[in-house]
Amino acid sequence: MAQKPTTNAIPSSKKTTKTIAKKISNTGSKTAPKAKVKTKPTHRTAFGLKILNSNHKDIRRLKREGHIATIHGNKFWNSSFLIMDYLKKNPLKRKIRVLEIGCGWGLLGIYCATNFDAKVHGIDADENVLPYLQLHADINKVNVTSDAKTFQQLTTEKLKDYDLIVGADICFWDEMSNALFNLIGRAKKAGVKQIIISDPVRSPFEDLTARCQKKYENVEVQQRWLKRPVNASGQLLIVK
Ligand SMILES: C[S@@+](CC[C@H](N)C(=O)[O-])C[C@H]1O[C@@H](n2cnc3c(N)ncnc32)[C@H](O)[C@@H]1O
Repeated sequence: MAQKPTTNAIPSSKKTTKTIAKKISNTGSKTAPKAKVKTKPTHRTAFGLKILNSNHKDIRRLKREGHIATIHGNKFWNSSFLIMDYLKKNPLKRKIRVLEIGCGWGLLGIYCATNFDAKVHGIDADENVLPYLQLHADINKVNVTSDAKTFQQLTTEKLKDYDLIVGADICFWDEMSNALFNLIGRAKKAGVKQIIISDPVRSPFEDLTARCQKKYENVEVQQRWLKRPVNASGQLLIVK
């Protein structure tokens, strides 16, 4: 039995080519109608922040230059929105000193700088994410400093420089739970007034919240949902 041609097959016989040519000439135009090309947006706006998409020329340039994130800091994660939503309803004091830990692209810190004139520093174990933070700080017209550091490297002395610590989606491996529990201990010793960590509720985060609830008096675990700008849900761990 002869095989049926696939629908994507390129027409090869003269007869088929002629039929196509006739069809085109029947449209009344000498050239084939141009297909409308939809271009993908290169940025989006959420919580008043401009966030660049992966097809934006500057994101593509940073990738070409070799800034490839290695610990999941390759994009902006939705848990940050849960903290932004909380801060929108529970505004910070102006000029507060904020440390964003595991900052990735740093949009949570940038939100604090934009909305509360906060003095913001971001740290991340992966130095390759920091140029993306600086790019977003620039396009959102705020000044945010940053350096490559791990949670473990933040000493009590260093933490004395901050009033608030925020971190989104930073507790996804078992060892992170322990590192963050110890960091919260040092932060409290250093006099940091509030620590807020958000997560889509993975088991290392549940372990962290349970340990904090057991050890500290002023601990809140809030369940939060968002419909806009994206569907997101998770929990906030708030230690005061
Ligand atoms: C899932 S990403 C979240 C990034 C950002 N917070 C967000 O919400 O878009 C986790 C980030 O934590 C950083 N990270 C992982 N382990 C770390 C550690 N021990 N100390 C500091 N940063 C760490 C990673 O490099 C990555 O940027």
